[in-house]
Amino acid sequence: MPRPIEALIHADALAHNLARARQAAPDSRVWAVVKANAYGHGIERVFNGLRGADGFALLDLDEAERLRALDWRGPILLLEGCFEARDLELCSRLGLWHAVHHDAQIDWLAAHKTQAPHRVFLKLNSGMNRLGFTAPAFRASFARLSALPQVGEVSLMTHFSDADGEHGIAHQLAAFDTASRDLQGERTLSNSAATLRHRGVAADWVRAGIMLYGSAPDHPQHDSAHWDLRPAMTLRSRLIAVQMLQRGDSVGYGSSFVADAPMRIGVVACGYADGYPRACATGTPVLVDGVRTRTVGRVSMDMITVDLIPVPDAGPGSEVTLWGEGPRGTRLPIDAVAQAAGTIGYELMCALAPRVPTRIAN
Ligand SMILES: Cc1ncc(COP(=O)(O)O)c(C=O)c1O
Repeated sequence: MPRPIEALIHADALAHNLARARQAAPDSRVWAVVKANAYGHGIERVFNGLRGADGFALLDLDEAERLRALDWRGPILLLEGCFEARDLELCSRLGLWHAVHHDAQIDWLAAHKTQAPHRVFLKLNSGMNRLGFTAPAFRASFARLSALPQVGEVSLMTHFSDADGEHGIAHQLAAFDTASRDLQGERTLSNSAATLRHRGVAADWVRAGIMLYGSAPDHPQHDSAHWDLRPAMTLRSRLIAVQMLQRGDSVGYGSSFVADAPMRIGVVACGYADGYPRACATGTPVLVDGVRTRTVGRVSMDMITVDLIPVPDAGPGSEVTLWGEGPRGTRLPIDAVAQAAGTIGYELMCALAPRVPTRIAN
C-alpha cells in the first residue's frame, strides 16, 4: 500500500470560483491565471474546471505549450512577455499574446519575422515598481508598438500592489487613467483582490488567480466563506500511529510540546517533504475524521502529530485533512493553515511536493 497521503483537485470548485469571478466582474472577460503550474494544482488537472474562462494567463512558455497540447485554442497571455528574442517564434507559432514591459522586448519584435501580427499587452508601472514602463515611456512605447508591422493590436495593462489591503488601488488607478486616457486598446488591471474588493474598475479583462483556487485574497480580513470560494485543492492523509502521553511527556524533535495532562496523540503521514510548512507551530488547525483539532509539536519531514482529545474514537487509519474538503461536508481553509505558518495560501499551494500523489477528485 502506498503511503496514505494524497492531494485532490476539485474541478467543480474551480468552475464555481470562476463563476464567482464572472459575477464580481460582469462586464469583463476573465483570464484564468494558471502560472506556476496552476498555483501548484497542475495545468492539466485544472483545465477542465477552468475551460470556461475567456483566456489563460501564465509566464512559462512550456506551460503555454501544455495548454495548446490540451487543444486550448483561445487566448493565452504571457504575463511577463518574452525573456529573449527567440521566444517570439513560439508566440508566432502558438498564437500567444504577450506582455511588453521593457524596451528590449520592443526591439526583438521590430526584428522579428512573422506572418501574423502579434497581440501585445503594454504594461504600465503605476506604482508597484516591479515590471512596466513609467508613464512617459509607456506612451512612447505605445506609439512605437503601434507603428510596427509585427504588431496587430496593443492592449494596456497594469498590476496593483495593494488591492488586498488598506492602501487600496485608487492611486494606481489614477496613474493608469492619466497615462492611458487617450490611448485606444483593451485594458486589464485587476487581480483577484481587486476583482472582489474594488468592483466597477472599468476594464475589458480581469486576471483572476488565487480566487479560482479557493483562497481569499485578503485573508485574514475576509475568509473564503465570505467570498463564497471553494477549495480547489484538498491535502489529506491518515493516522499511521497513536501514542498515549502522560503529564510531562513531550513529542517530536526538540520536545517543543509537553503534555500537561494525559492525552492521546495521532501521528499523521504528512510532513514538510510533502509541502506542509515546517513553520506551523503547535496549535495549527487540522481535521481528524472531520473534527477540528490542532497539531502538537514540530513538523518533521514525513510526520506531524495531532491532539486526539477532541476525537476520542480516532485511531490508525483515521482520515486527516491538512487543508481543503474533509469528510461529511467539513472544510479546513488553506488560509487558516497558511496563517499559522506566517504565510499565505498561495505559498502552500505552490509548495505541494511532487512526491504527493495528486489526482482530480471524482
Ligand atoms: C500580472 C499578474 N496578474 C494577475 C495575477 C493574479 O493575482 P492573484 O492570484 O492575486 O489573483 C498575478 C499574480 O501574481 C500577476 O502577476
